[in-house]
Amino acid sequence: MPKNLKNEILLVGKGLKDKISYAKNVKSLEDIRISALGKKGEITNYLKQLKSFDHEQRIQLGSVLNEIKNNLLNSLEEKKRIIINEELEKKLLDEKIDITLQESPNNQGTLHPLSKTIDDISAIFADMGFEIAVGPDIETDYYNFTALNIPEDHPARQEHDTFYLQPDHDGFRKVLRTHTSPVQIRTLEKINIEKLDELRVIVPGRTYRSDHDATHSPMFHQCEGLVIGKKIKMSHLKGALIEFCRVFFGSENLPVRFRPSFFPFTEPSAEVDIGCKKLQDGSLSIGGGEDWLEILGSGMVHPKVLSGVGIDPDLYQGFAFGMGLERLTMLKYGIPDLRPFYDSDLRWLKHYGFLGIEETSLHSGLNGVNS
Ligand code: DAH
Repeated sequence: MPKNLKNEILLVGKGLKDKISYAKNVKSLEDIRISALGKKGEITNYLKQLKSFDHEQRIQLGSVLNEIKNNLLNSLEEKKRIIINEELEKKLLDEKIDITLQESPNNQGTLHPLSKTIDDISAIFADMGFEIAVGPDIETDYYNFTALNIPEDHPARQEHDTFYLQPDHDGFRKVLRTHTSPVQIRTLEKINIEKLDELRVIVPGRTYRSDHDATHSPMFHQCEGLVIGKKIKMSHLKGALIEFCRVFFGSENLPVRFRPSFFPFTEPSAEVDIGCKKLQDGSLSIGGGEDWLEILGSGMVHPKVLSGVGIDPDLYQGFAFGMGLERLTMLKYGIPDLRPFYDSDLRWLKHYGFLGIEETSLHSGLNGVNS
C-alpha cells in the first residue's frame, strides 16, 4: 500500500474526529456524518478507490478505512448522546420554578392587641400556678346569676344589660353570659376540692352586654380568676393582684390601691386601682401621680357561693377577681377608642398589632390614653 496514501487517510480521519468533538448540535453532527460517510463523503470516496489497488493493498487499505469508519460512527453516536443530555439539562434549568421566592413582607399579619393581652395575662398567672378554665358563651340564668348569689330581684341583674335568647321549649330563657364569673361555678362543680391541694384558675373569654359607645362594645372580653384552698386569705388576693398589675404594666413600683366595693359573689369585695398621672394633653400616664384608675373587681368568695356548690365555707376559703380586657389593653397601649377593635381594619391592626414571633409592638407609644 502506498505509504503516503495511508498517512493521508489517517490525517483525514483525525480531522473528522476533531470536527465531531467541536460540534455544538445534532444538526452539525449530521453534516459531518454526510461529509465523511455520505454518498460523496471523503471516506466513501477512498472506499470507492479500493478496487484500483491489488489484492494485498486492498486488504490493508480496506481495514484502515473500516477502522476509521467505525471509529467515526462511534464518535458521532457518543457526541450525539452528550449533546442531547446537555440540551435536556439546559431546558430543565430554564423551566425551573423558583419556589424559594418570598411573599411580600407587606402582607405579614399582626397579633391583635387583645390577643397579646390574653397571652400576657395567661403567662403572668401561669407563673403563679394558675391554669386556664373555659365555659360556654350561652349560659343559663342559674350559672350567670343565681349560683353567684344574684337572686331574681337583685338590682345587679338590671345593671348587667343582659341579652336574653328566645325561651326554649320548657320556657327557660338562656342568656349570653354577661361576665366570666359563671365559669367559677362550673369549675367548682367539676373538681373534687378535697383531692386538690388548691384550685387556681383564670378564665379569659368573651362576654356580652347591651351597651355600645367609645369605651363599651356589646361583645367584649373579661378575665376571671379564682383561687380556693384551706388557708386562703385576703393577703393572698392582695399579693397576687399587686404582682399582676406591676408585671402587666411593666412598672416595678406601680402604686396599687384596694378600695372597698360590693359584688354579690364576694365578701368582702374590693375594687383595684392603679396610680396614674393626667398629662397636660389630657392623656394618662400609668405609674406615679395624683390620680387613680380602676382596673378590676375582686373579693373573698362569698360563703353562699361555696356552699351552693357543696364546698364547706368553714373549711375552705378563696378569692376571685374579674377584669375587662379591652380596658386593660386600651390603657396599656394608649388606644383611645374601643370600636376599631372589631372592625378588622388592616391599617389599625398594622398600627396597634404585634409581630407574633418577635413579640415587639409596631406601636411605640405606651401608657397614653385620652381621657
Ligand atoms: N363579674 C364582675 C363584673 O363583670 C367582675 C368581678 C368582680 C369578678 C369581682 C369577680 C370578682 O370574680 O370577685 O363586673
